[in-house]
Amino acid sequence: MDRIRIRGGRQLKGEIVVSGSKNACLPLMVAAMLTDKPLTLKNVPRLADITTMIALLKQHGVEISAAPGENGHSHGTTLTLRADRITSTTAPYDIVRKMRASVLVLGPLVAREGEARVSLPGGCAIGARPVDLHIAGLKAMGAEIEIDGGYMVARAPKGLRGARYTFPKVSVGATENLMMAAALAKGTTVLDNAAREPEITDLAECLSKMGVPILGIGTETLIIEGVEQLKAATHAVVPDRIETGTYAMAIAMTAGDVELVGGRLDLLEAAAQSLRAAGVVLDKTNRGFRVHRANGLHGVDVMTEPYPGFPTDLQAQMMALMTRAEGASMITETIFESRFMHVPELARMGANVTIHHESALVRGVSRLRGADVMATDLRASVSLAIAGLAAEGDTTLHRVYHLDRGYERLEEKLAACGADIERLKG
Ligand code: EPZ
Repeated sequence: MDRIRIRGGRQLKGEIVVSGSKNACLPLMVAAMLTDKPLTLKNVPRLADITTMIALLKQHGVEISAAPGENGHSHGTTLTLRADRITSTTAPYDIVRKMRASVLVLGPLVAREGEARVSLPGGCAIGARPVDLHIAGLKAMGAEIEIDGGYMVARAPKGLRGARYTFPKVSVGATENLMMAAALAKGTTVLDNAAREPEITDLAECLSKMGVPILGIGTETLIIEGVEQLKAATHAVVPDRIETGTYAMAIAMTAGDVELVGGRLDLLEAAAQSLRAAGVVLDKTNRGFRVHRANGLHGVDVMTEPYPGFPTDLQAQMMALMTRAEGASMITETIFESRFMHVPELARMGANVTIHHESALVRGVSRLRGADVMATDLRASVSLAIAGLAAEGDTTLHRVYHLDRGYERLEEKLAACGADIERLKG
């Protein structure tokens, strides 16, 4: 298994090109299942999760071709997906357990084929993560769903019908699943208390290009008019706001000075506000924005919330940054119950963090020391890399496959800015 070795102490300088968003791209790929017409996606990041989604969609019968892409500054792949025929309505356990986003095929399959058998994903490293809202929403649209042998077995022999559904809790995945199902339902679907993440907006914009009328894009009420047929479309995946925020925190950690090319500050307002309060300077440029630091770092309090609040997917990285700030920082995680797995590993590097229920109190320390560390999810892993960039000596990050799920060529992007970092194979 690959490892990444980082020797801390170098300031990051230069530029980093932001890739397309993983969490926008996964549902966009699934949207291709709604139609027999081609969907072309540009700016697709090269990531393990995208490869897993390709494997899942192929086994459902989707034909997929990839070409090197030219899209603005980033050179992500261009994928063309065509679901002429759905050859299997089963999403097997072996793929779903590897990647939870696989459950997004449930809505499109039952909407188009009138049936679906999708493995329940089970728990994961960051929490229990149930899928009850996906199920309840599809039931409101007329699907019959039962659990059998660890699978959600859904039927809608006469097709889905538009409905009004109010989410009792904001869910990104359930909003995406229902939005896609609604595209092929008879009549109008109104989704209240829908998630407003930029990835949802990206999916809504792509569905609009595919001929699905959607009102309220970017708000908590989405009104989707079902259609009989969707059209061919081409769509460029939105830049990854979480990758952008991660690098902003890495740059701040090393007191560096880097332009994040393609980075969109408008999608990162809550995180930008916290970074500015901590003493980080973010200046908009023609190509993205520049991150640097005039003085020291101060501790700031952060609470994760659904968009437009501070993203849970940047919580671990912010905590890594706060380990070196002056003063204390209270970091509260409200989205996932077990998302502090990075804390004991940061402590092994000398961080001073105490957990009280859903909050972590971080008291800044004057130095971190390199260590062998590992994490069990993607964002926790990258937080350890950020800590390693500012630690004395060598940090070796194990279980790098978590990183590879969501960060494209992380070590190359950081090395190009002067980090002493290398991947150790095998
Ligand atoms: C998406 O997961 C992201 N994944 C996650 O990113 C991200 O952390 C999360 O949204 C929150 O922003 C993708 O987009 C592929 P949710 P998702 O449904 O859709 C509860 C990363 O690191 N819930 O918005 O699975 C759930 O347990 C990943 O890239 C239910 O109770 O998240 C959680 O507490 C990790 N019932 C909250 O809602 C449900 O049916 C929000 O989860 C669904 C969710």
